[in-house]
Amino acid sequence: MRKPLVMGNWKLNGTKESVTSLVNALKEPAAQAPSVEVAVCAPAIFIGLVESLAKDTAIKYGSEDVDVHTKGAFTGENSPEMIKEFGCKYAIVGHSERRAYHNETNEVVAAKYKAAQESGLIPVLCIGESLEQFEAQQTAEVVKTQLKAVIDMNGIKSFENAVIAYEPIWAIGTGKTATPEIAQDVHATIRAYLASFDAETAEKVQILYGGSCNAKTAPDLFKQPDIDGGLVGGASLKPLDFAAIIKAAEV
Ligand code: 13P
Repeated sequence: MRKPLVMGNWKLNGTKESVTSLVNALKEPAAQAPSVEVAVCAPAIFIGLVESLAKDTAIKYGSEDVDVHTKGAFTGENSPEMIKEFGCKYAIVGHSERRAYHNETNEVVAAKYKAAQESGLIPVLCIGESLEQFEAQQTAEVVKTQLKAVIDMNGIKSFENAVIAYEPIWAIGTGKTATPEIAQDVHATIRAYLASFDAETAEKVQILYGGSCNAKTAPDLFKQPDIDGGLVGGASLKPLDFAAIIKAAEV
């Protein structure tokens, strides 16, 4: 039985004040949904603040990215050890915005996944196709290629300590959520692909859906057998909406 996971990805948003009120507002919804793991991924500069706010609560947290290096002359980066030191459980790797705006290749993403795991963080591996690829019916091929790069570098067993987030790029921030049927179909494809390497690992790994996942769309998405929760952008900044998404994931 996979525990549902509802994770916010705040992206480049927040102030000290808004982060404080958001985390405080999530304490109760998180405590009232023990069957769901609730997490927020924050800009690195706010992680220390989240650490102090989330102390002794049911809220877990993580970073939105991580560097592959542990230390050295890499101005502006945050190492997995630094992120871990601030109590993070998760690190998102390979978000489509990082792939697009920072030229992160499948190999770079696989190396970030490795670096995160080596520091004791759980990587949240984002995969998903563009609109063009979706329309050309290349989704399965794209997600398998993205997964294969990680399997080649880290092995299939590494997924026992990782989370996958399927985020169709055409659904991110557009209000165009994938239908529950489309999302389920891709999630099942992902799980079957992993099962072709190791069935037990495939059965255990949480696969989240992301892309305009909100209070309205979450309930039907979360009913699908291979959707184990959501990676939520815009709606994770609104406490009432995020609380409703958490509720929708309860089992
Ligand atoms: P939205 O929920 O704003 O579409 O963003 C999804 C996302 O990119 C989460 O990582």
